[in-house]
Amino acid sequence: MKVLVACEFSGIVRDAFAKGGHDVLSCDLLPTEQPGNHYQGDVRDILDEGWDLMIAHPPCTYLCNSGVRWLYSQKGRWLKMEDAKEFTAVSFFAGAGGLDMGFEKQGFKVIWANDIDEDACATHRLWSTAEVVQGDITKIDVSTIPNADILLGGWPCQGFSLAGPRQLNDSRNVLYKYYVKYLEEKKPLCFVGENVKGMLTLGDGEIFQAIISDMYEKGYTLFYKLLNVKDYSVPQYRERVIIVGFRNDLGVTHFDFPEKHDKIVTLGEALAGLPEPSPEDICHAPYSSRYMSRNRKRGWDEVSYTIPAMAKQVPLHPSSPDMKKLEKDLWKFGEGITRRFSWQEAAAIQTFPKGMQFVGDLDSKYRQIGNAVPVRLAEVVAEQVYKKLCECIKEDNNELGVGVI
Ligand SMILES: C[S@@+](CC[C@H](N)C(=O)[O-])C[C@H]1O[C@@H](n2cnc3c(N)ncnc32)[C@H](O)[C@@H]1O
Repeated sequence: MKVLVACEFSGIVRDAFAKGGHDVLSCDLLPTEQPGNHYQGDVRDILDEGWDLMIAHPPCTYLCNSGVRWLYSQKGRWLKMEDAKEFTAVSFFAGAGGLDMGFEKQGFKVIWANDIDEDACATHRLWSTAEVVQGDITKIDVSTIPNADILLGGWPCQGFSLAGPRQLNDSRNVLYKYYVKYLEEKKPLCFVGENVKGMLTLGDGEIFQAIISDMYEKGYTLFYKLLNVKDYSVPQYRERVIIVGFRNDLGVTHFDFPEKHDKIVTLGEALAGLPEPSPEDICHAPYSSRYMSRNRKRGWDEVSYTIPAMAKQVPLHPSSPDMKKLEKDLWKFGEGITRRFSWQEAAAIQTFPKGMQFVGDLDSKYRQIGNAVPVRLAEVVAEQVYKKLCECIKEDNNELGVGVI
């Protein structure tokens, strides 16, 4: 039998089938160090190669429409694909949808998304089937938003004053309030948000502590961790707080954030195969004194500096000559051609799929890309959330004993 095992990094399922005399290929976006027949890449590129049987690891429910029929769970049990649960999601502050896309790849279906930015909404509509509503979240009546299993989206935190936790009730914190309002009224099973590192230390950490207790009173238990996306196969140094909340009645007392990956993905690997960009795809704005106050260039074998939302602040492409430090907070460019990453290169570093289109002018494209949660980071978080939700709803009935095939 010709067998394809998708999302198979370990080689365990592949080797079991090989022992049984089958012609088996494993496939994963990552290389495997286990000797054996392995394709490193996207499983969707090799689906049409006449497989008698296709298997994947959960929660790869996005493969449902791709011919995969069985999932092999970490507990060593088989799950019939038609029975794999798909959770619905509503997304606030969705932007172009980096967070949403990662969740869609791991068993969640975004049914409604909102952002105030017209271009970001148009970009989201290009790839998702969600109802994307453009507008200010504070003007949207929560009763018009559908119920969902999960709420996605970190609340922007500009409204939080450094003055202390009581500021949670300050009318300026409108965006947090609307996020919480959805939780209170719609009671999703859980929520996942991303926020900047500074969120943890605002007001000496008191604001974050106040948010945790506020959320608990509203019925949710929070788990949070500062992650660096470079540890999850994203070719970029970017520290972000991931906040996951579960409805108190689910009784979740522990949440496993994703394990760090063994290897980094370098700029060389991330940008391989991208064509030389057209000049109109690169920001050529003058370099400000703020830009010149730091090194902005990383090499092919390294990860990128953080991709920011502002085009002018985008780091340099590795083909640029090394920068030289002149004195504290003052650097200069080396001899040769210096340029920033194009928007397509920035999108690749944020792990958006190659060839993805972004709506808007150059500044808008860079903004949507820099604002996004890297898709690959969203995926690894989504995988853990999916597992935890499955544990909570205990769908044991769907699991069949090993050896059914
Ligand atoms: C950090 S970005 C979110 C990025 C998104 N999570 C992703 O992965 O692509 C925050 C978003 O909040 C949106 N936003 C800010 N204020 C808003 C408001 N009042 N109503 C709706 N969206 C708002 C911004 O336009 C921006 O796209």
